[in-house]
Amino acid sequence: MRIGVIGTGNMGALLVDALVKSKAVKPRFISVMNRTKKKALDLAKKHHRLSVYESPVDILRHADIVFLCVKPGQFYSLLQSLRGAWHPGQIAISITSPVSVSQLEQLIPCQVARVIPSIVNQGLSGSTLVTFGTSMTDIQKSKLWAILSQFSHPIEIDEENVRVASDLSSCGPAFISFLLRKMIDGAVNTTSLSKKQATQLTTEMVEGLGKLFAEQIYTLEELQKKVTVKGGVTGVGLDILEQGYNEDFEKLFSATQQKFAEDRQAVNAAFNQEEV
Ligand SMILES: NC(=O)c1ccc[n+]([C@@H]2O[C@H](COP(=O)([O-])OP(=O)(O)OC[C@H]3O[C@@H](n4cnc5c(N)ncnc54)[C@H](OP(=O)(O)O)[C@@H]3O)[C@@H](O)[C@H]2O)c1
Repeated sequence: MRIGVIGTGNMGALLVDALVKSKAVKPRFISVMNRTKKKALDLAKKHHRLSVYESPVDILRHADIVFLCVKPGQFYSLLQSLRGAWHPGQIAISITSPVSVSQLEQLIPCQVARVIPSIVNQGLSGSTLVTFGTSMTDIQKSKLWAILSQFSHPIEIDEENVRVASDLSSCGPAFISFLLRKMIDGAVNTTSLSKKQATQLTTEMVEGLGKLFAEQIYTLEELQKKVTVKGGVTGVGLDILEQGYNEDFEKLFSATQQKFAEDRQAVNAAFNQEEV
């Protein structure tokens, strides 16, 4: 399978890194291009024999699976520029949630899917959220699934749940990092522990926690119960967290749904021009 990546910003570059690191695809079978060419050239310096091209159409000429890794607002004009360049055996993959799979099918005359990656895929772990287009054949679905499985755990997600699922798997690392930084700051501000030591202890704790979940030793509930000794300090700390919790995550998910609706509206406006 020859892979093409259009847009080598954060996520495009991360996908290339994950594909190569996991040995899913050799760099000589990967073609990339980016609007600002330097980013693509920098990626080629990292991965020997990766091909860099000038235009998105060049990528379509050299790839069986094409990852479209641009932002939602850049999508419509990119797809317009690719009209007539696709061939039927290709698979086009979007990594952006506000563009629905049916909108992709509207402008791409080959098989399409959406795959939402996460920064944790860089460590060859975490989920990728997959929504298949209606024309994907079972064979092509299996091929795509096999590639994604090399660096992640692919999970099929309905269109209606793509935002909340992305919040958990793709935005989640930022949310958790924020909470952990607050925990570190709290420890440093109230004791003589250094920030360096607090950070080391916390990141090593998270690394160990991840391993426990990976080995399926505990569920979240079991783990919490196991650490919370009756009458002990963990319980005292948890009481404080319970008292301070004011439906913060409910507010968070409402806010991300609202932002998603706005992003969708902007994408719809561009795609609706098509129907006029
Ligand atoms: N960040 C995450 O953790 C995450 C996770 C899952 C999904 N996503 C989704 O991934 C998408 C991309 O996010 P990102 O963080 O990777 O954004 P980004 O860093 O801005 O990358 C987008 C890249 O696309 C390039 N580009 C724009 N239009 C182009 C065109 N017509 N032809 C070729 N290249 C073009 C840009 O080039 P320039 O260098 O010229 O700007 C830029 O390098 C977003 O929709 C986001 O929602 C992000």
